[in-house]
Amino acid sequence: MSSSSTSTPTITSLATPKQVHSAVNMVLDTAYQGIDAAAWKALFSEARASKLEQFIADMFAGKHINQSEDRPALHSALRNLSKTPVLIDGQDVMPAVTQVWQRIEALCNQWVGVTDVIHIGIGGSDFGPRLAIEALAHVPGIQSRGMRMHFLANIDTAELGRILATAKPHSTRVIIVSKSFTTLETTMNAKAIVAWLKESGCTQSQIAHTLYAVTANVAGAKAFGVEQDQIFPFWDWVGGRYSVWSAVGLPIALQYGFAAFEDFLAGAHAMDLHFQHAPLEENLPVIMALTLLYQQEQHDIKAYAAIPYADALDWFPKWLQQLDMESNGKSVGRDGKPVKHSSPVVFGSAGSNAQHSYFQLFHQGTEIIPIDFIAVRQPMSDRPEAVAHHRILLSNCLAQAQALANGKDAENPNDIYPGKRPSNLLLLPELNAFYLGALLALYENRAATLGALWNINSFDQPGVEYGKVLAKPIEKALASHQITIQASADIDAVTAARINLFNS
Ligand code: F6P
Repeated sequence: MSSSSTSTPTITSLATPKQVHSAVNMVLDTAYQGIDAAAWKALFSEARASKLEQFIADMFAGKHINQSEDRPALHSALRNLSKTPVLIDGQDVMPAVTQVWQRIEALCNQWVGVTDVIHIGIGGSDFGPRLAIEALAHVPGIQSRGMRMHFLANIDTAELGRILATAKPHSTRVIIVSKSFTTLETTMNAKAIVAWLKESGCTQSQIAHTLYAVTANVAGAKAFGVEQDQIFPFWDWVGGRYSVWSAVGLPIALQYGFAAFEDFLAGAHAMDLHFQHAPLEENLPVIMALTLLYQQEQHDIKAYAAIPYADALDWFPKWLQQLDMESNGKSVGRDGKPVKHSSPVVFGSAGSNAQHSYFQLFHQGTEIIPIDFIAVRQPMSDRPEAVAHHRILLSNCLAQAQALANGKDAENPNDIYPGKRPSNLLLLPELNAFYLGALLALYENRAATLGALWNINSFDQPGVEYGKVLAKPIEKALASHQITIQASADIDAVTAARINLFNS
């Protein structure tokens, strides 16, 4: 605990190594992590002992690092604008990737007079494009085509109702996005949208003209009724939560233009090149991963927060939750043995709003929660007030980090700030498509690094499936409207009683 507010050394005083790093014009400052030179050395040794460098090389080389599903994790190929060959089992995937880019660009030019786009998808088929559409909506200089972009993810018809209240059926385009094309929320919502088009008087051929699909299951999309030439494929070597770089990101190109989509890919590609080639000691995704590992080892932390001081990035923590927790929320390692560490709980929302919600716990709670403060140097609006408001936003960001790190002593225990609460500062020069791409790729590569350090396969998600399987018999029991459902092999006594409650 600090002994006085002014004379106490900060936690940085322990640290002499370089604390500020930059890549792709983004700056990472780890000074408030309290990691000294010896600890950094040990962390980099630990990373090397985990064969991290080999893992990174294998990932970009298309090795089957997703061992449980026996496939590569090659989302980096989707943003490989250099088009250098990327081989999977000896075959270059870049011609197929390039063909999809060409089709996306052509579609941007074809859509004229479209008022509404309904993007139907959930999880990885939703978060990325939704975040990008929101994040870039008010960026100075970006041209929007002004279509209403509706994202339909939830099976709860409230979302459907909200969308249908404003969408104009005869000038709507529908994009059904599902890697598997079997996700119930998505296929049922898609059926509901088709029904709405029919009710609104659209003919069969108009509906066919309206429906597009993005999927790794082309046969499934065709069986649903989407025309072959309106299906954009992606591949099983792209994980759903890593798929925004594929045609899953179509809304970005359609709304902001193909050049903006290319910029988005270019930012991510630049970050990939950095991740692939920078030494570990200069490697932003690696350094960020190691700060988390350090806090796990020191404080056994169970949660961390990502707080973008940019309202446009309010969706970023939701995207990150799936990325981190679906990738690394696992207790068994690649070797089938229990792991020592795995993903902490991730949460966050835009600052400074977040300060007025849960920052009390950050400052004085019993848990230590590392924070990534994400700030943007340039204001994100060209309003006359923007400069003054932005200065206040940034001063809040800096002040919170300092208060958390240094703490403050007081006579009254209630007024004591313990301090030593670690954080990173990540500074983007501006928010545009390029830096948004770089930011997402930074965190993707950080998640992959953490998986390598923890010995976790970050590219499967077996735990999500069981609940989906159990939902089927429960749905059947609900549909029976009976109030005498008994416990069975699929339904336990508690759930049987709950079904009876819902049915009563
Ligand atoms: O439920 C988990 C999950 O499989 C995610 O991994 C995925 O992003 C989401 O569902 C949607 O899957 P799909 O794109 O196949 O519809």
